[in-house]
Amino acid sequence: MADAEQYFASSPAAASSPGVVRLDLGDVRLELATDAGVFSRTRLDPGTSVLLHKAPVPTVDGDYLDLGCGYGPIALTLAARRPRARVWGVDVNERAVELVRRNAAAAGLSNVTACLPDEVPADLRFTTVWSNPPIRIGKPALHELLRTWLPRLTPDGAAHLVVQRNLGADSLAGWLTGEGYGVERVASQKGFRVLRVSRAG
Ligand SMILES: C[S@@+](CC[C@H](N)C(=O)[O-])C[C@H]1O[C@@H](n2cnc3c(N)ncnc32)[C@H](O)[C@@H]1O
Repeated sequence: MADAEQYFASSPAAASSPGVVRLDLGDVRLELATDAGVFSRTRLDPGTSVLLHKAPVPTVDGDYLDLGCGYGPIALTLAARRPRARVWGVDVNERAVELVRRNAAAAGLSNVTACLPDEVPADLRFTTVWSNPPIRIGKPALHELLRTWLPRLTPDGAAHLVVQRNLGADSLAGWLTGEGYGVERVASQKGFRVLRVSRAG
């Protein structure tokens, strides 16, 4: 089965096949362990790359969320850029969660907590959400996911989401606006949009 079909399984059926992705953003250099059954395990996903290069580095600390963290390129970049923030890497894929734990430990990033969605304390609020969201779970499931997590932004908090134009970035922006969020397109590159989503509107 191809990665795209199974990367959001809770326990990937694919036999382990360890790999490494090297991340070099200039300010952040990381070597990240990957594995079969995890999203984009052979290279940094181009959408994730656009997000990491184009979204502004957050200026406030607090709790951050990487929603759908995969093996952790977004969570670990945020943690390296803002050492005083506590970054939550959340994924339904247990193999991905375990990889984030290993990758954070190997990089000496003690400000990362990787866990399954249900393991995040219910009263936690996030100043920052960065996500390459799982568009392939389908629109109803994606909307439910965003309805679960975006209300947990602090009043001044903001989310940055990277979405492929061909996979519905503009319709997602319209839906978010209809849900009452402020939505701004902060970057557009290589067919991807980076959307800034705020509660304040
Ligand atoms: C497009 S991938 C991005 C992975 C990683 N952030 C990256 O940039 O390489 C989306 C991720 O969302 C995860 N996912 C799918 N459904 C989810 C859910 N309901 N809650 C949390 N994560 C989910 C998938 O397992 C996958 O790892």
